[in-house]
Amino acid sequence: MDIQNNSTVPSDLNPHTLPQHVAVIMDGNGRWARERGLPRIAGHRQGARTVKELLRCCQDWGIPALTVYAFSTENWQRPLAEVEFLMKLFEKVLCWERLDMQRAGVKISFIGDLAILPTPLQIEINRAITETEANQAVHLTIAINYGSRAELVTAFRSLADQVQHGLLKPEEIDEPTIERSLYTANMPHPDLLIRTSGELRLSNYLLWQLAYAELYFTPTLWPDFDRAAFHQALQHYQHRDRRYGKLSTALSA
Ligand code: IPE
Ligand code: IPE
Ligand code: MG
Repeated sequence: MDIQNNSTVPSDLNPHTLPQHVAVIMDGNGRWARERGLPRIAGHRQGARTVKELLRCCQDWGIPALTVYAFSTENWQRPLAEVEFLMKLFEKVLCWERLDMQRAGVKISFIGDLAILPTPLQIEINRAITETEANQAVHLTIAINYGSRAELVTAFRSLADQVQHGLLKPEEIDEPTIERSLYTANMPHPDLLIRTSGELRLSNYLLWQLAYAELYFTPTLWPDFDRAAFHQALQHYQHRDRRYGKLSTALSA
């Protein structure tokens, strides 16, 4: 690999066509730990470091938004000890990293049903949101207790409620109305989805928002997904032809 200044876009990437929003399914922490004879929680701990590294890449390369899947609505079905560890880990990482995030100009927000999370975690979440809301360098969104289907149910219920109260007519419900009712209201759709660990599925992540994202699957386990791996994902992304149902520029010429 060529020697480059970390804070500039690698020379083989076009800085003008980088994704503006990258969504990530951080998968493979457990397998990473198992491969090393460690408990699964060691993989989660290491996985948290990967998020920090990726965030740094986004800052260095000018990618304005990163959305990571930290805990799904289905993950409650894991053993209680693992769930409790994860909740504590989120709380601690938010507490430890808040100052660094603040200094780096990272705006942190969350998607998911946060109301049922443990109170100490909710306190850290609210602190992170309020303290970083004016930041503009990179927008980090963390999906916790997030499920796309649950998100859609919540959105449709709220629209039905507005119809029932005469605030909205059924014929006024269109794509922008639905967009505004999602947790991701006001966020651009992801351009690129990365899933690590070799699984080829979406696992209930941003089903509406990923409608036209480019999908990138890699066998690399999340704790091993480093700057070079992210660089490779971006190379792949820049070779895609995003047609959105139209003909490619070459064909229509
Ligand atoms: C992803 O890693 C982290 C969470 C889902 C919280 P996993 O814990 O799913 O790791 P694997 O898939 O078992 O290796
Ligand atoms: C998806 O990973 C959820 C997160 C990364 C938080 P899972 O490991 O839970 O997904 P499945 O069970 O393999 O589909
Ligand atoms: Mg998994």
